[in-house]
Amino acid sequence: MSPLNVIILAAGKGTRMYSNKPKVLHALAGKPLVQHVLDCALTLQPEQICMVYGHGGEAVPQALQQYGAKFVMQEPQLGTGHAVQQAMPLLQDESRTLILYGDVPLIQHSTLHQMQQAGEGLVLLTVNLDNPSGYGRIVRNIEGDVQCIVEQKDAVPEQLAIKEVNTGIMLVPTARLREWLGKLSNNNAQGEYYLTDIVAMAVQQGVAVHTVQPSQGWEVEGINNKMQLATLERVWQKEVAARLMAQGVTLFDPARVDVRGELVCGRDVEIDVGCIFEGKVTLGDGVKVSAYSIIRNATIAQGTQIAPYTHIDNSEVGADCHIGPYARLRPGTKLHDHAHVGNFVEIKNSEIGQGSKANHLSYIGDSTVGSRVNIGAGTITCNYDGANKFRTIIEDDAFIGSDTQLVAPVTIGKGATIGAGSTITKDTPAGELTLSRSKQLTIAGWQRPIKGKK
Ligand code: UD1
Ligand code: CA
Repeated sequence: MSPLNVIILAAGKGTRMYSNKPKVLHALAGKPLVQHVLDCALTLQPEQICMVYGHGGEAVPQALQQYGAKFVMQEPQLGTGHAVQQAMPLLQDESRTLILYGDVPLIQHSTLHQMQQAGEGLVLLTVNLDNPSGYGRIVRNIEGDVQCIVEQKDAVPEQLAIKEVNTGIMLVPTARLREWLGKLSNNNAQGEYYLTDIVAMAVQQGVAVHTVQPSQGWEVEGINNKMQLATLERVWQKEVAARLMAQGVTLFDPARVDVRGELVCGRDVEIDVGCIFEGKVTLGDGVKVSAYSIIRNATIAQGTQIAPYTHIDNSEVGADCHIGPYARLRPGTKLHDHAHVGNFVEIKNSEIGQGSKANHLSYIGDSTVGSRVNIGAGTITCNYDGANKFRTIIEDDAFIGSDTQLVAPVTIGKGATIGAGSTITKDTPAGELTLSRSKQLTIAGWQRPIKGKK
């Protein structure tokens, strides 16, 4: 098969988004629209990808640097044919060129693959719409062969009645494309260079024109405004939810879960309503994520139970842990198996050993906590002196009494006990009770102050 070149058109201003951000950088499922298209294009292993962006849209190449795509600016914007023309100097004649759109984000590999298999010649992706208004119509002869595409504004009434429309996505032999684009004129209702005019040229030269239809209608839906963006977001989330359920995941309400990235689930995973998964998240067998939890770039091992309103960010959680409600694991947290992290506990850049517990109201930062440690309510690691950060080390089997401050750098020895209400500034010996607390005393007969007379 001839090598594949991909052109992604993304020069449109996106006026109806009413945004300073280029349209194609608005996010769907947490990822810029055009990045969905790029990711899909990459699955076809093309020789190269060229993106046509618009004047003022420098943010587009900036945001997509790492993809190795080539960028060409189209200014002024004189139509889809003119847009494709801008990329032609970069393309190889012996290739086939696939034309995609930065604002049609959900095109799927299977559909594009089908186009590649449809035969030599020109391959158009078309759909049948009950309301074809606004789209270019696919005009066929009585044998059913495609003759041309006529744009809405140039169509005569019987053409307007055609329900098969052009999605814009097409696959074209590159040498032919170059030749045809050179012959385009803008003598039409919109005064634009229509890419679609190449279809009639192909027919005239006896080049075969094939059509393929997408597996799902939503694959070819474009985004022009925030309403369409939100609508397509829901369509996609529903699709993701369906895929998860098909794999055996229990979603308490498939309409109330959001996956903005990749969510990989083991068996018997349960997800309650309002949860958001961002980046790459892996949930092991039997994990339960309760309502309104937000999990980003994290691995949660089997059997762990996450209570409501828990936030987990760039963390690794072992098996059979209990987290939340209202717990916050910040980047760099690692919980070993059977750890418990309870309400209003914040952990950052710390390791919590097997079976250790911090169940209430704590801040644990830059710490290494051993196994079977109990961290009492209100314990704070004071890891920051205003300029530098220091580590706290709590060895196995230590017991930290409630309302303790551990001023780092400090080490609590193995099996040590710290009395409640202590401020610990020096290392504490293993196996001993250490506390820093003024003696309780009672002042006999003491009276509360009373307000003085004016
Ligand atoms: C185009 C098709 C139409 C099809 C419809 C599907 C043409 C002439 N018409 O019409 O048959 O049914 O898409 O949505 O191709 N773009 C540029 N530079 C330009 C013009 C457009 O990059 O100079 C990009 C836009 O950003 C957009 C896409 O091309 O992503 C389509 O452009 P648009 O103006 O929306 O085309 P339509 O008139 O809708
Ligand atoms: Ca359009």
